[in-house]
Parts: sequence; C-alpha cells; structure tokens
Amino acid sequence: MRGVVLAGGTGSRLNPLTRVTNKHLLPVYDKPMVYYPIQTLVNAGIQEILLVTGGKNAGEFLRLLGNGRDFGLKHINYTYQDGEGGIAEALGLAEHFADGEPVCVVLGDNIIENNVRKAVENFKKQSHGAKILLKEVEDAERFGVAEVRGDRVVSIEEKPRKPKSNYAVIGIYLYDSTVFQKIRRLRPSGRGELEITDVNNFYLEEGNLTYEILDGWWTDAGTFDSLLRANNLVAETGANMIPTEELAGRPTSGEVAR
Ligand code: DAU
Repeated sequence: MRGVVLAGGTGSRLNPLTRVTNKHLLPVYDKPMVYYPIQTLVNAGIQEILLVTGGKNAGEFLRLLGNGRDFGLKHINYTYQDGEGGIAEALGLAEHFADGEPVCVVLGDNIIENNVRKAVENFKKQSHGAKILLKEVEDAERFGVAEVRGDRVVSIEEKPRKPKSNYAVIGIYLYDSTVFQKIRRLRPSGRGELEITDVNNFYLEEGNLTYEILDGWWTDAGTFDSLLRANNLVAETGANMIPTEELAGRPTSGEVAR
C-alpha cells in the first residue's frame, strides 16, 4: 500500500493568507497543516509516500519536509501539479509512483483525531475496489455526501444543495490500481475540475465501493471557519502527532545531524 498526500490547488478560499504561501504550509496549532495528513499515513503503517503539490511555493515543501525525518521516514517522494485541475487530476500524477499497488490518498487539508490503520487493514482484505470513510456532519452541503443503506453506499453527490444524508465523504480514500484508468475517463465538472466524487461513483457503479464510519473528530481546514476549528481541535485534543518537543530536538532538513 502506497500513500499519497494531495497538497496542490491555490487555497483561494483563504486569501489573503495564501497570497504568498501555500495553504498546506499554514499553521494548524503547533505544526504546518501538511504534517497532519503525512502523519495520518505514517500512523496507518504506510511508509512510501508521495506528496503532490503545485503553485509558486512548491520548493518550500522540500525545505520543510526534506526526507521526512520528522515522521521517522527515510524518504519522501514529490511531484508537481501544473494548475489546479482538481483532486482527481492531482491523484492521476501518482500513477507512476503507485506502480500497480493500491493507494491510500489523503487530502492535504484534512485532519483527523484517531488512527485509520484498521480501515486500511480492512481494505487490504477487500483485494479490489475502493473504500471511503464517512463522518456525520451538520453542514453536509460543503462536502461530498454519501447516502447509505445498510452496508451499501447507494449514492454520492458533490456539494449537493439538498444533501440526502448527513454523511460527509472525508478526504481519505483507499483505491485499487484501477483508479488511474478511471481518472482517464473523467470529464471536468461544472467547476472545471476532475472530481474525486466522480471517481468514487465509478467504483459505486461497478459495485466495488465499501465504506466505514470514522471514529473521533475530523475536519478540513480550507476555509477560515474550518481552519479555526482545526486549530482549536488540535489544541484541545491533539491529533495523534509526534509531540512538538520531540521534533524540536531533531535537526531540520538543512542541518547536519550531530
Ligand atoms: O474535505 C473533504 C472534501 O474534499 C470532500 O468531501 C469532497 O468530496 C472533495 O471534493 C473535497 O472538497 P473541497 O472542495 O473542499 O476540496 P478542495 O478544493 O478544498 O481540495 C482539497 C484538497 O485537495 C486541497 O487541500 C489540496 C488538494 N487539491 C485540490 C485541488 C482542487 C489538489 O491537490 N489539487 C487540486 O487541483
């Protein structure tokens, strides 16, 4: 299983915070936002990680993360998304890295309280198809929304005006290697992007989509309100991260280890 963190896009909803930096480099309590999705993958037992980013500040990710020492990694892979053609377009850039293996994809602005290792292990047993994670929310119209019946997902709609349920599709996705063929079949949506919801719907139509309900809190951090919420949640309850005091003792990527 390989891990992909998607940290492209312009973060225009956070303007002017994102005028001179990338959204995923902004602080969430005591760490840069991108630390959280990387830690999510590492906590789930995934060590081979690709970071997809873009825009004018892409080099800053290398300066910040280096080879992933802060996460106990030996190496991080990087790639560059030209423009902001959507989440599925960004994921399409991971095909060479995935090399036929299944992937766990985490959106760069999604932060969770607990560990998704169990869901990842369950997906491995599934052998093919995809798994999405759902969380009940009060503002479902901001997200991809799944309608479920028993253990089946029956529909997924992207930001529906009238959501059919309160289940948001969170930004952690598990896919088999057919995801890249599916991405090639996509056409841009009304907002001009290749939508991850359309990818999930391809799996749904094939009858190859499972779901689990996430336990613990989840938030995105791509709007002023959700960024504030993310800061507060992390400050109040933590997010399964390596303590900052521990990181403070480690050399940065530019320093030589003593
Ligand atoms: O947070 C979960 C939601 O994320 C899901 O419920 C939705 O179904 C999904 O479409 C997405 O919704 P957003 O509209 O909030 O996604 P956003 O455009 O903010 O992008 C989320 C992350 O994806 C962003 O932090 C970086 C990455 N991304 C996004 C775009 C548009 C890229 O890497 N490249 C891109 O071109």
